[in-house]
Amino acid sequence: MKSIRGRLGKAADEVVSYSASIAYDRRLYHYDIAGSIAHARMLARQKIIAAKEVQAIVGGLKEIGAEIERGDFPFKPEMEDIHMNIESRLAEKIGEAAGKLHTARSRNDQVALDLRIFIKDIIRQTVGRIRKMQAALLDLAGDNRRVVMAGYTHLQPAQPVLFAHHLLAYFEMLERDAGRFEDAYRRADVMPLGSGALAGVPYPVDRQSVADELGFGRISANSLDAVADRDFVIEFQAAASICMMHLSRLAEELVLWSSAEFDFIEIDAAYTTGSSLMPQKKNPDTAELARGKTGRVYGNLMAILTVMKGLPLAYNRDMQEDKEGLFDTADTLLATLGIMADTLGSLKVKAKNTGRAVARGYMLATDLADYLVKKGEPFRKAHDIVSRLVGYAVVKGKTFDRLTLAEYRRFSRRFDKDVYSVNVASALTARDVPGGTAPKQVAKALASAKRKLGKASRQGQKGGAV
Ligand code: ARG
Repeated sequence: MKSIRGRLGKAADEVVSYSASIAYDRRLYHYDIAGSIAHARMLARQKIIAAKEVQAIVGGLKEIGAEIERGDFPFKPEMEDIHMNIESRLAEKIGEAAGKLHTARSRNDQVALDLRIFIKDIIRQTVGRIRKMQAALLDLAGDNRRVVMAGYTHLQPAQPVLFAHHLLAYFEMLERDAGRFEDAYRRADVMPLGSGALAGVPYPVDRQSVADELGFGRISANSLDAVADRDFVIEFQAAASICMMHLSRLAEELVLWSSAEFDFIEIDAAYTTGSSLMPQKKNPDTAELARGKTGRVYGNLMAILTVMKGLPLAYNRDMQEDKEGLFDTADTLLATLGIMADTLGSLKVKAKNTGRAVARGYMLATDLADYLVKKGEPFRKAHDIVSRLVGYAVVKGKTFDRLTLAEYRRFSRRFDKDVYSVNVASALTARDVPGGTAPKQVAKALASAKRKLGKASRQGQKGGAV
């Protein structure tokens, strides 16, 4: 089979290599073959080509699939992409009949089909990994359900929280991520074949049966849109960017917490490295890389948005640039979810240190203000009193529990002996609102997160939409 240049004559080598996408789109081979088999079978059912020819086509395509898997498929850059490589190999194998496979099809609807199947597949894997990561968070939270830590705003010690409560915040982020991917899945789940190059095909095709065979929810409604649309790539990239942003924030916390200054956690040696120079170091490399790799995922989103923004309808060759970034994002996201879940699984929490941090930071200041409010002081005034009290305690180098009652009463006569019952435990217990850090509420939240996750995994196993 000749290369597709046809009337254009032979292309210069540099043009061949500039145009070729085979180096990376070969990874679509499995989807391309599945799509071609479904298309060919439909052509036979509709009597557009003979059943015998379709038999040869399907047999040949399966052999080609096996060749690629074995690693002895002769990829040719002059055949440009995976679609042409497979079709030309089919011609070598079965002769004339191969030329009939592309009846009622264009590479424009073919590549859209392949990419959609690819993305559906990747989304299923992504959601699976998000669920695993959520399970790792719940395990860690469950194992450390009584551990208290400093909660921060502006990275300044703010109020005591349960460590489990902090972890459950990430559970919620990942829950929204899973929802975004499931939502993107529904819009990717549209079968474009039958759109041809742009205007539809002049054959009595049965589009719905192809969609059914390939497991698509519906067929596309407009042929121009079907070949020109890459929203599903962009949505995946966008959902991936948000998910990576969450993973990156968690990674940043792991980096901070494992520093000598915080010393809240120990990351297993499997996920850290030593320094080639400084023997004392244990660097949190996987967490740093998770944070760093977020950059390339954002970059891939920007790239595809920019590729698409100026394109007139319908297909334009620019769109070939949709793939490398997509593959890179898919690989990066799946790997990062996996490694972060494993890192969490290996984490040791240093409860003594997280507790010490709570004692150090005057973190009960809000609770002392609330104490005064309960005694009748308006909150603003109570806030003012306690902030002067903190100033005094800092100068004296004393924590709240070391101040004498006389010292307290210099700031407000409302302070009484029961001020000493304001402590970390009372601060936690007091925040007894749904979504708050009171141990009772956190236990409820943990149980409810476990139920949600159990339900989601059961749906996944039953082969729900995603
Ligand atoms: N390699 C192309 C891509 O990835 C396939 C579609 C080519 N279509 C065309 N009319 N040249 O977009």
